[in-house]
Amino acid sequence: MNIRSIAVIGGGTMGNGIAHVAAQHGYDVTLIDVSQAAVDKAISTITANLDRQVKKEVLTSADRDATLARISTSTSIEQGAQGADLVIEAASERLEIKQQIFATLDAVCKPEAILASNTSSISITTLAAGTKRPDKFIGMHFFNPVPVMKLCEIIRGLATSDETYATIKALAEGLSKVPVEVQDYPGFISNRILMPMINEAVYCVMEGIASIEDIDTVMKLGMAHPMGPLTLADFIGLDVCLSIMEVLHDGLGDSKYRPCPLLRKMVAAGHLGRKSGKGFYAY
Ligand code: 3HC
Repeated sequence: MNIRSIAVIGGGTMGNGIAHVAAQHGYDVTLIDVSQAAVDKAISTITANLDRQVKKEVLTSADRDATLARISTSTSIEQGAQGADLVIEAASERLEIKQQIFATLDAVCKPEAILASNTSSISITTLAAGTKRPDKFIGMHFFNPVPVMKLCEIIRGLATSDETYATIKALAEGLSKVPVEVQDYPGFISNRILMPMINEAVYCVMEGIASIEDIDTVMKLGMAHPMGPLTLADFIGLDVCLSIMEVLHDGLGDSKYRPCPLLRKMVAAGHLGRKSGKGFYAY
């Protein structure tokens, strides 16, 4: 299938990044969120990130303007997604919300349209099973910041067809991403490996093994990670980290995935990282 138009559901960090990259690579994009304020905020974030690319001379101002001109917005899934060849859902990480969105999409989208979720940990097979097109359902897991990070995990649900996989793999390459094929198991590859590392770093803090800064320094300078695990946890959001650990723990049933009590406590206190102004560091 030849994909020309993409609808992106959700204008948050991941959704606005996906819309940005898709429009930059020539696709007609409709960015959909629940309110005009959310949509406006997403467009101003995309504009600021495009301006940053212009300043760094990776993009011309004409390209920035053309990218923005390819993005239209909507506050209605029905209207915004009905003509799309592909819909990429990047709404909040709650199963019921995603299931409701996909039920609507399944009803209004063209029969040949592909439905994709950017979920970081919810089962693609489960989401696909709630639609009448599980063969045309797939996971496209992008990484924050989307315009910068090269990876796209492509998750095959149990019923995802070879044709859908091939179309989405080619699309990811067309977005200048490096696709990696992953079977649908909790946390896929990225979060199966990343989150236990972050969780272990939180245990190191809880057990008083070293300071927050020193734990980050070890992983930055000893392992050449661009961010230490606690800085990265703040960047991702501690609530997101906790929820992914819970998915790993429930889905794989192994006590090695138990979330660190300090991680639970920080989330309970509302210390969620950058987005709340306080996590392991103050912002
Ligand atoms: N849009 C466009 N460009 C951006 C950008 C954005 N949102 N954010 C950063 N950039 C660009 C900058 O312009 C800069 O470009 P240059 O290399 O041409 O100068 C480059 O990215 C680096 O940015 P900065 O100089 O501002 O800052 P840093 O060098 O500190 O890099 C970082 C920032 C890219 C975020 C880097 O620290 C990094 O790679 N961190 C790790 C990020 C990571 O691990 N992400 C994955 C999180 S896990 C996830 O998303 C999955 C989920 O399921 C949990």
